[in-house]
Amino acid sequence: MDDLHSRRAFLFYLAASPALTLSSRALAQEIGMASDEVVAEITDMFNLFDFEPIAKAKLTDAHFTYMAMGVDGNDTVESNREGFEHWQIRVRRLVDVRNIDLRTIFLGTQYASPIGIAPCGTHTMFHPEGELAVARASSSRDALQLLSTVTTTSVEEVNQARQKPVWYQLYPTEDWNITQALVRRAEEAGCPVIAVTVDLPASNREAIDRFHRTTNPDCLACHTPGVEGSYARKPMFDGLDLSGISNSLAPQMDWAFVDRLKELTDLPLLLKGIVTAEDASLALEHGVDGLVVSNHGGRSIDSRRATIDALPEVTEAINGRIPVLVDGGFRRGTDVFKALALGADGVCIGRPYLWGLTAFGQEGVEKVLDLINRELRITMQQAGTPSLADITRQHVVRAGI
Ligand SMILES: Cc1cc2nc3c(=O)[nH]c(=O)nc-3n(C[C@H](O)[C@H](O)[C@H](O)COP(=O)(O)O)c2cc1C
Repeated sequence: MDDLHSRRAFLFYLAASPALTLSSRALAQEIGMASDEVVAEITDMFNLFDFEPIAKAKLTDAHFTYMAMGVDGNDTVESNREGFEHWQIRVRRLVDVRNIDLRTIFLGTQYASPIGIAPCGTHTMFHPEGELAVARASSSRDALQLLSTVTTTSVEEVNQARQKPVWYQLYPTEDWNITQALVRRAEEAGCPVIAVTVDLPASNREAIDRFHRTTNPDCLACHTPGVEGSYARKPMFDGLDLSGISNSLAPQMDWAFVDRLKELTDLPLLLKGIVTAEDASLALEHGVDGLVVSNHGGRSIDSRRATIDALPEVTEAINGRIPVLVDGGFRRGTDVFKALALGADGVCIGRPYLWGLTAFGQEGVEKVLDLINRELRITMQQAGTPSLADITRQHVVRAGI
């Protein structure tokens, strides 16, 4: 091994080692290497987890913490992963599985696979090409993409880079005029679906608070405290009067608000953040067009309830009447298979594509999608389910039953 490769391999080992408490940036500095030299080859990435240490090594501690954290003690981030241990796959044998078909249709549009991109804010924090790199990757892989309201690139530019429109994730804020303006702008940009996030009436993100963003000079070099900091630099808020909003949360949202949104737009309306049968039934009563079972990647409430465990009661209540997507902790093809068997129509991934973006830009996001789709294809071959329609509730069993 030449010197460069052995240094890379060493740093890759350091970055990947869960036992180390020092950040890999600090380690890189200790051995006299700039953190942006901490590189690995994309060909060294064999599963989604392989990207995380590379992303960690490339980001500041504050930015990596922002991406990784949940709320309170981050317990629900763990639960989202642990939930998959509660479900086992029942495989059937002697089925011809030479041809596996991952194609699926969401609300009238066909996609290459049931695995999509969850909306996450501020992509340029992770890579200079930010949302544009993600859009090009989701386009080249023909994957569903939901775009956050709090992006660092406008929806118009993202749709242009993608050459087909994203679904628009709406943070309504406390001010109806802003809600209205955001919906109109998404409509005019050609977005075919609005997905309103309903799981953030409040949140306790203490992991990031520990960085004292409003007083820490390192943070203040880029961040502006208050509403100005949250919104004024975000292109979707350009030209809007922000004086009526105090922060990014929306405690006023209720079912009357959902009705009002339905009246505002003719686009299909999804609710992102539903985790109970009761709310799923109410969503049907209020004419909602689809759901995303989500706990915001453990970033809303530290409920200790995995989304894969919440999914069955929601899909049972919906009973196929509207599409149900799910996100939270999906890292493996087997995870996706379990959700499909529990009645989900699709699955979104959040942090893993941010790891891919941080590590390798567009190519990294593409590789993340390729790897998890490859795993899903192999799982479907193993389970004897050549198409998505073949995956049923019989293909999964609660552990220990
Ligand atoms: C850094 C980060 C930013 C996020 N930003 C948003 C957002 O702007 N809007 C939203 O609805 N959800 C947001 N989410 C939640 C994701 O859409 C998704 O629900 C979650 O990431 C899925 O869990 P996973 O990261 O374990 O895959 C964000 C998540 C992360 C990690």
